[in-house]
Amino acid sequence: MNWVEDEPRYRPFDKDLFSKLYRFVWRYKWAFILVIVVWIIWTLAMLAIPDLMRRGIDDYIVPALDGTLSAPEAYRGLAIVSAGLLLLAALGSGLRIVRTMVGFRIGQRVINDLRMAIFKHVQRLSMSYFDKTKAGWIIARADSDLDTLEGIYTWAPVDLISAVITLIGAITIMILYNWRLALAVSLTIPPLFIITLIFRRMIADAYRLVRRSASRITANIAENISGIRVVQSNVRQDRNLERFDELNIENVEANVRAARIWQTYWPSIDFIGAAGTVVIIWYGSSLVFAGTLTAGALLAFVQYLGMFFGPIHQMGRLYNTLMGSMAAAERIFGLLETEPAIHDAPRPLKLDRVNGEVTFENVSFSYNSPDDEDFKWILKDVSFTARAGESIALVGPTGAGKTTVISLVPRFYDVQRGRVLIDGVDVRDVSQKSLHSQMGIVLQESFLFSGTVMDNVKYAKTDATDEEVYEAAITLGCYELLAGLPNGFQTNVGERGANLSQGQRQLVSFTRAVVANPRILILDEATASVDVQTEMAIQYALERLIERRTSFIVAHRLSTVRRADNVLVIQDGRITERGKHMELLAAGGPYASMYAEFIKP
Ligand SMILES: Nc1ncnc2c1ncn2[C@@H]1O[C@H](COP(=O)(O)OP(=O)(O)OP(=O)(O)O)[C@@H](O)[C@H]1O
Ligand SMILES: [Mg+2]
Repeated sequence: MNWVEDEPRYRPFDKDLFSKLYRFVWRYKWAFILVIVVWIIWTLAMLAIPDLMRRGIDDYIVPALDGTLSAPEAYRGLAIVSAGLLLLAALGSGLRIVRTMVGFRIGQRVINDLRMAIFKHVQRLSMSYFDKTKAGWIIARADSDLDTLEGIYTWAPVDLISAVITLIGAITIMILYNWRLALAVSLTIPPLFIITLIFRRMIADAYRLVRRSASRITANIAENISGIRVVQSNVRQDRNLERFDELNIENVEANVRAARIWQTYWPSIDFIGAAGTVVIIWYGSSLVFAGTLTAGALLAFVQYLGMFFGPIHQMGRLYNTLMGSMAAAERIFGLLETEPAIHDAPRPLKLDRVNGEVTFENVSFSYNSPDDEDFKWILKDVSFTARAGESIALVGPTGAGKTTVISLVPRFYDVQRGRVLIDGVDVRDVSQKSLHSQMGIVLQESFLFSGTVMDNVKYAKTDATDEEVYEAAITLGCYELLAGLPNGFQTNVGERGANLSQGQRQLVSFTRAVVANPRILILDEATASVDVQTEMAIQYALERLIERRTSFIVAHRLSTVRRADNVLVIQDGRITERGKHMELLAAGGPYASMYAEFIKP
């Protein structure tokens, strides 16, 4: 799924979404109200300017021409008018600065709050959500969707209020001058509205295409970069470039189309403006000659007519931005309102330091819910007990369910039947936090975060001292290896640990687990081959790591299986054999016939 492709058509306004959004804005209500008040004052100041000019003309210039006012008196009057104009202009500029600064700050704050809310929420979501959702989709919520939203909630209401005040204010003032001419001038508003209505739909469509093609480009670049190894090793560069070129042309076309629509819109609006001016000049002049309108008012009329265009255009633009923003807001709140599949019980138990006995009691499990069409049991009636401190090796063909078994221990998923117990307590009855604090998990692909080796080792126990870290490394026998890195424990591991070899990353993960010192250890053994020396280091470390704690190891190495207190053979979601390595070999059952195939010597 692409992240803008699912943008719905015409949905300019959604009350629910808006009120959700405004809960975030309302935290800054005083600043927000300030912006609105400032902008109302600005609008009124702008409305006053043409009227002030009218006074200048009618009260001083025309009487001076008639000879009813002496030149010095006229100049004195005009000086006051000019001072007034300067004052209004200065006020306008000042208010504009305040509005921009305060409004921008609110905008950024709200974006920041929303981003925090997304981050926090994503951390709470369950594994099943991440199985179904691409990382790119989630990132787009916290990134491009937030950008789309930015400003809409601060500027939209402010602009709307200002537009309404300007229109009503200008028309009222004109009616006070002369209601006949005001009526004639107001005749330009309906065509302005109609043209804006027609164009806004076309423009909205055009911009939807622009956004879609832009998002395709982004997605394409992202995919090419993350898959660069595959791209290069399959010599796909030329083909991918062609595809990228197509996407770019699509984007250019979409932009040109949008620009073309704008370029017809503005001249049409200008023309109506000109027609309105002509009406004022002809009809207005006749009123001036008849003595029912002053010359200054005539000039002011032309200026007020000019004030119509801004608001009407603003409303048209508002419609466009609203369309995009509502779609973005819908996706953001959709994410924020996704309930984690795994909940703590209403009054969860807190697990204190456990002994580490783990029991599966007739566990059956599926990744989907029973009402799904493709429902399939992945684990079927699995029962076993790992006594405290025991090491359990899980072996079996690929797709048999080994990783699934070990992800049920930390309750990454809930079982449909049976129970998973730790020290006799159902994992669903304890808080996830206290459950997870008992466990160390080392996955197949050791994931490191950018930072130093030291940072990564302390990841699970941030208050660990450097000495604890060194001790852990010494216990595991990998102190020399880690200290021998270019900057020792202060070596930067790079993004996702890219600066370290697979084997080194494993050892860092092991050290992390030892420092955290969990009662239960879960380990998906890496299948990647490392050099003999590192292999030996890892084997030694592994042995130390599982000492004195309950450990589950999805084993790929013969040495691991041999050392395990108990081996569970998993085939097609069932435990088909169990026992020690030697017993199983001697039994000549499934294990004996398959172990050579699946297990590295
Ligand atoms: N997140 C998931 N959503 C749906 N089905 C899944 C998910 N993870 C695994 N499966 C399915 O569950 C079955 C067991 O998968 P599992 O990962 O437990 O196998 P495994 O024994 O660990 O295999 P391997 O040795 O290849 O790691 C597979 O058929 C797989 O397709
Ligand atoms: Mg697996």
